[in-house]
Amino acid sequence: MIKTIPTKPYTDQKPGTSGLRKKVPVFQQEHYAENFIQSIFDALDGFEGKTLVIGGDGRFYNREVIQKAIAIAAGNGFGKVMVGQGGILSTPAASNIIRKYKTFGGIILSASHNPGGPHEDFGIKYNAGNGGPAPEKITDAIFAKSKEIKSFKIADIGEIDIDTIGTVKAGDMTVEIFDPVKDYAELMESLFDFEALRKLFKSGFRMRFDAMHAVTGPYAKEILERRLGAPDGTCRNFKPLPDFGGHHPDPNLVHAKHLYDEMMGPDAPDFGAASDGDGDRNLIIGRGIFVTPSDSVAMLAANAKLAPGYKDGLKGIARSMPTSGAADRVAEKLGIGIYETPTGWKFFGNLLDAGMATICGEESAGTGSNHVREKDGLWAVLLWLNILAARGESCKDIVTKHWATYGRNYYSRHDYEEVESDRANALVDELRAKLGSLAGTSVRGLKIAKADDFAYHDPVDGSVSKNQGIRILFEGGSRVVLRLSGTGTSGATLRVYIERYEPDKARHDLDTQEALADLIAAADDIAGIKSHTGRNKPSVIT
Ligand code: G6P
Ligand code: ZN
Repeated sequence: MIKTIPTKPYTDQKPGTSGLRKKVPVFQQEHYAENFIQSIFDALDGFEGKTLVIGGDGRFYNREVIQKAIAIAAGNGFGKVMVGQGGILSTPAASNIIRKYKTFGGIILSASHNPGGPHEDFGIKYNAGNGGPAPEKITDAIFAKSKEIKSFKIADIGEIDIDTIGTVKAGDMTVEIFDPVKDYAELMESLFDFEALRKLFKSGFRMRFDAMHAVTGPYAKEILERRLGAPDGTCRNFKPLPDFGGHHPDPNLVHAKHLYDEMMGPDAPDFGAASDGDGDRNLIIGRGIFVTPSDSVAMLAANAKLAPGYKDGLKGIARSMPTSGAADRVAEKLGIGIYETPTGWKFFGNLLDAGMATICGEESAGTGSNHVREKDGLWAVLLWLNILAARGESCKDIVTKHWATYGRNYYSRHDYEEVESDRANALVDELRAKLGSLAGTSVRGLKIAKADDFAYHDPVDGSVSKNQGIRILFEGGSRVVLRLSGTGTSGATLRVYIERYEPDKARHDLDTQEALADLIAAADDIAGIKSHTGRNKPSVIT
């Protein structure tokens, strides 16, 4: 029943920040997905007879690749696969299943917040037995295998019915189709005060959750409306669609503008939130106030003790380097560790496994904790709700009081998307070349204290990751960070992160872009952003 099919390597199967992401037609090339899945298995050892979790965010091509993954897992000798019903499994829910059932690992099919459809994006990512994205030594090994692959092994098991819950045999392998929501909902119930949340909704508290036609719809419906009694209609766009209804399932101020407008309008509910394609990102907007992801992680950490799952306090906080320093001030006050990692959730894995960090966050709308090994959109929403219920204050009050206590980190990210790769690389190369001479010079009246290319020394395994983003640190604590995105699928995306710390309470309600205007201009002077990219403004400002 097991066939060995000859194949030729593709040269471009290098996993990025978060797995292999390409346009659907790339994945549809002959044996493209098969090659990558086989390369994952070729890079791993000791899975014979063990269990593999498989699921995805429901995007176009999900169901086809799930069938391939099941058959190749059977061909390679896995004992069992656990597949989310309908092929659905949010990224954090997949992480939970891997951990809860102590499986060997999992394959998650998603391109996160990128659009879906026949000409849009698809992705394959491997998560290890700790539930987290494979560390670089595994992704490097997968890439190496993909360049030398000669054949893949596939079992002739026909099409598996992935829509009916139950267990079937596929050759020598067992296939279990399970409810993708149940275990996750139970996990959330174990962390948060569901009784208090039920009371909150009963008292008339109103929220909007926009699932953006992506994977969190069924999770949010079950948890918010069924278990917590939020009124019908609290969840919007809750049916996962292969093309996400033609939208970008990216919960930011551009793609969830309708939610932002509603939350700023006269009839705004108390609280608004959204999640992305695969359910790991979050957008938090209180009535009349948007909470930046960098602020959100700081505020969640400062108040985490109010939720039962974190009542004993936090071990430490970790944030990616480009994320603002707001969380650092909370960690300092709590007297706990703060860790600065490169962009990519995988870098938090060791800190979480070693019990050094409890809550982690990234400027890219990812927040999570040690409950799983992925960032978790609904988790962040539920922790916010738990804090709102416990404090009995509005989101806006909590945010402004936080700034008054800790100071405000004005923060913005400017993205230049689909820049020609050569031009983007030239910008970075030129900037790198002059890093050594920047310290001590002044630009637009701002004195540069230090400029470097961020390197991370993992305190747990001692590994070093270099060239993780260029930092220009100004005297007084302001900074500009520049790096190229590792998740794009066409051309290069230049990200410019701008931050200014403002301790003065009287200056906490400025417009963010105005508060950062001199730094934005300085960044262009230093890096020649306009001349290199040929653009006179960013494609997206968040
Ligand atoms: C994915 C990763 C995150 C990362 C984000 C942005 O969502 O899971 O950890 O922060 O991409 O990465 P990028 O390389 O595009 O800035
Ligand atoms: Zn995502």
